[in-house]
Amino acid sequence: MLTLSDQRRRYKPKIPALLQDPRSVAFEKIKTLDVDHEVASLFPLTSKTSALKGCEGSCTLQMPKIGVVFSGGPAPGGHNVVAGIFDTLGAGNLIGFLGGPDAIVSGSYKELKKAEIDHYRNQGGFDLLGSGRTKIETPEQFQAVLNVVKKLKLDGLVIVGGDDSNTNAALLAEYFLKEKALTCVIGVPKTIDGDIQNPYVPISFGFDTAAKIYSEMIGNLAHDTVSSLKYFHFIKLMGRSASHLTLECALKTHPNITLISEEKKPFQTQIKELADWVESRAKTPYGIVLVPEGLLEATLDVAGALKDSHGNINLSGISTETFLMESLQKELTARNFKGKFEPLAHFYGYEGRCGHPSNFDANYSYALGITSALLVLHRQTALMAYVGQLDRPPSEWTFGGAPLTPLLKMQTRNGVLKPVIDKALVDLNGKPYKALQKNRAVWMKHSAYENPGPLQFAGDPQITDSIPLILQC
Ligand code: FBP
Repeated sequence: MLTLSDQRRRYKPKIPALLQDPRSVAFEKIKTLDVDHEVASLFPLTSKTSALKGCEGSCTLQMPKIGVVFSGGPAPGGHNVVAGIFDTLGAGNLIGFLGGPDAIVSGSYKELKKAEIDHYRNQGGFDLLGSGRTKIETPEQFQAVLNVVKKLKLDGLVIVGGDDSNTNAALLAEYFLKEKALTCVIGVPKTIDGDIQNPYVPISFGFDTAAKIYSEMIGNLAHDTVSSLKYFHFIKLMGRSASHLTLECALKTHPNITLISEEKKPFQTQIKELADWVESRAKTPYGIVLVPEGLLEATLDVAGALKDSHGNINLSGISTETFLMESLQKELTARNFKGKFEPLAHFYGYEGRCGHPSNFDANYSYALGITSALLVLHRQTALMAYVGQLDRPPSEWTFGGAPLTPLLKMQTRNGVLKPVIDKALVDLNGKPYKALQKNRAVWMKHSAYENPGPLQFAGDPQITDSIPLILQC
């Protein structure tokens, strides 16, 4: 019996024509970006790296040997990055590091073969290789990675990761040049959080699928609430400090209330506004509230002890939604509220990280994989592979490399000043946030819910190939 997974394995990602023949691609320099003064002094060899754009050309260079590693949380499309690299290089040239960044320190890897790659095409998860969150920071770790890439004679190391992992990529690229190692380092923008955005990268891969999966569940809950006419649902959504996922899900489903961490509203103000809203719904005692997982980090002083080695707080482990509900209940009691308030808490996070990638993510991540391999083929380093013009059909997408070093900013992490790639947060002057603002008052009052339904792979291209709404605003 044919399963959906089997059917997805047969899907052929749509990519720009130029990417279909690796031998017909060249790269042209498009510009150098300004680098923070202090960062430039720490990265003398890579701070002048230019941004590159793929163009028509020809290439007779020998295919390189590449090692690829997944870093951080899974995101739908990761396997297609690997497939894209594999299809560009051909058999015998790609190894995969096993279990995340630890593996590039210890040298734990396997050679990737066609049958295995074929099994993972267009499949969610990172289980082909596994992942991890180790930060490469000690001199011993750097030396160990250098020994591994030299021993394996790698021409390229491709790090598929988020802001912290791409920071690792920038550090390793500089270090390899300093040590005169020939291995190029290329980062690939991955994370469901959507918080890697820069002048070249419109959004990370994985965001679209996660938002579609969460929106289906939110839409179903909203339908339940207007059917059963009870329950106030408080739904926490993954995304760390950035509320992009919450914003995208709000634009897709039209909840009554959408909290946005970046507004930095004092916690008690949020509670008072929520209490006013609950009081106003005496005749309709139900509703949907979306809560970004970074809300408490943005509004309360959360203990530093909760931070990991990258300086991130384990926001998924904090029951923000329950805390919010309980605080609201207290406020309503203090107001002597006699109406009906039956709250229910939900957390949608891990459910969205390993789904079958949407067509958009399958196409996008495959194109990123090919681009990263081509950058190594052309001996380029210290770059983040990018695919641009994502709001147009894949045939019109652009591709190239964005220099990593200019993306670094000096920040205090765990009390120490370090160069890190800044997370892109929701821009309160940006069009997606303004689209929410325009509708908030109406959605708060009425049950204007949209139920987008499940992620679709077959049918009307307007639905199957749809792209994130935040890219369309
Ligand atoms: P990345 O930034 O590594 O892509 O991870 C994203 C994320 O899913 C966040 O949304 C969430 O806060 C975190 O991972 C959860 O981490 P963990 O997998 O360690 O529980």
